[in-house]
Amino acid sequence: MNIVVIGSGYVGLVTGVCLSSIGHHVICVDNNKKKIQQLKAGQVPIYEPGLEELMRACTKKKRLKFTDSIKEACQQSTVIFLALPTPPKPNGDADLTYIENAAREIALHMNSYKLIVEKSTVPAETGNRIHRTIVLNLPRKYKRGDRVLLDFDVASNPEFLKEGSAVDDFMNPDRIVLGVESKKAEKILREIFKPLKTKILVTNTASSEMIKHASNSFLATKISFINAVAQICDRVGADVLKVAEGMGFDQRIGRQFLDAGIGYGGSCFPKDVNAFIHLAEKNGYDFGLLKEVRRINDLQWASFVHLAEEKLWNLKEKNIGIWGLAFKPNTDDMRHAPSVDIIARLKEEGARVKAYDPKAMANAVSIFKDICLCDDPYKVAQDADALLLLTEWPEFKEVDFVQVRDAMRQAVIFDGRNMLDAAKLKKLGFEYFGIGRGRL
Ligand code: UDX
Repeated sequence: MNIVVIGSGYVGLVTGVCLSSIGHHVICVDNNKKKIQQLKAGQVPIYEPGLEELMRACTKKKRLKFTDSIKEACQQSTVIFLALPTPPKPNGDADLTYIENAAREIALHMNSYKLIVEKSTVPAETGNRIHRTIVLNLPRKYKRGDRVLLDFDVASNPEFLKEGSAVDDFMNPDRIVLGVESKKAEKILREIFKPLKTKILVTNTASSEMIKHASNSFLATKISFINAVAQICDRVGADVLKVAEGMGFDQRIGRQFLDAGIGYGGSCFPKDVNAFIHLAEKNGYDFGLLKEVRRINDLQWASFVHLAEEKLWNLKEKNIGIWGLAFKPNTDDMRHAPSVDIIARLKEEGARVKAYDPKAMANAVSIFKDICLCDDPYKVAQDADALLLLTEWPEFKEVDFVQVRDAMRQAVIFDGRNMLDAAKLKKLGFEYFGIGRGRL
């Protein structure tokens, strides 16, 4: 199948490379010429395990190309995936300008049947709007009165990739959702995903768009639920790890996404929860539940800093070491990372901050102007009054905690992800504070 993926950001690039690796001919498009040059040179501009190797292998087999021209790509392909940014507007609504512009350009350059597939998270109804934009912008020669002479379809195939395991998520999905309005579109999409052995759910485009909104918001709800439970655990002397384990054994609940911590971040959950609240509001429904999910999430990082402040007495002029800056492990992504808010609050309180992250240092340099970025966790611990673990990178489990303890001015650890062995640290003489660990 000849496929174009418009937008070579996180979702677009993973989708393009993976579609190519399962046997299709793919052209990835992006209007950023510098990015296209980089990709042509075999470099992936983001950190995603396995992606660069796979991309090089596909390029070598001549099944993967890159261009900045929608026209050129569009004319050579039947299927066009849209993986464009849908950034939030100040009111929380999704800004769909990129999608509209791409739809217009596709219309102008269409030369045969095309199937246009939304990959980005978009409000229900976007499929209809793309359809209308294409009809409005098709060249005159393809219209007779109000009849359209060139056949095309718009479909929705939401992505469920998680950063850090995106390639594996693509290759081994829990399900594939196809939102289609014609048998032809369904047949083409089934053919594309045939090599992936998994459940395929076929529905209309509006339901497919809704599945994506509802899935992400439900996962965010699960996280906020366990974070609220953690707040109570702390107050009544229960351990949220045991509570989550006990709940998770119930197959109707499941253990995943019940890790209490400093809240969810990243490019999806915060934006998608806002967009869903807004979509509901626009359609006359007040989604109070999701507003509370958002409020609980904002409370999590703030109460974590508050805990540090309470235990350290004063934050002013204290040396605070930060382990982990990315919004989660195995990524260099710092978009909506809780570390950004936490560090800003620590600085406001007059603390001196040193930080280390295994992959996000390049991004951190452009975000934090007045903190000291170190190249290993031990340097962060040197003379620290406390360590705050903000991202659960596996390497933080492997550090030599005797060396860390001896380097610190006060052996105090705040574990924002409940990843460290509290009992072991206490034995070594640390004061340990997790999230929702009760009287541990
Ligand atoms: C998410 C969805 O999982 C994915 O299906 C969708 O396509 C994009 O959004 P992603 O943002 O990459 O993926 O990361 P995810 O692993 O879902 O984590 C999101 C945030 O939730 C992270 O900040 C993570 O630390 C936090 N989280 C996750 C928790 O705080 N507790 C948990 O139990 C799980």
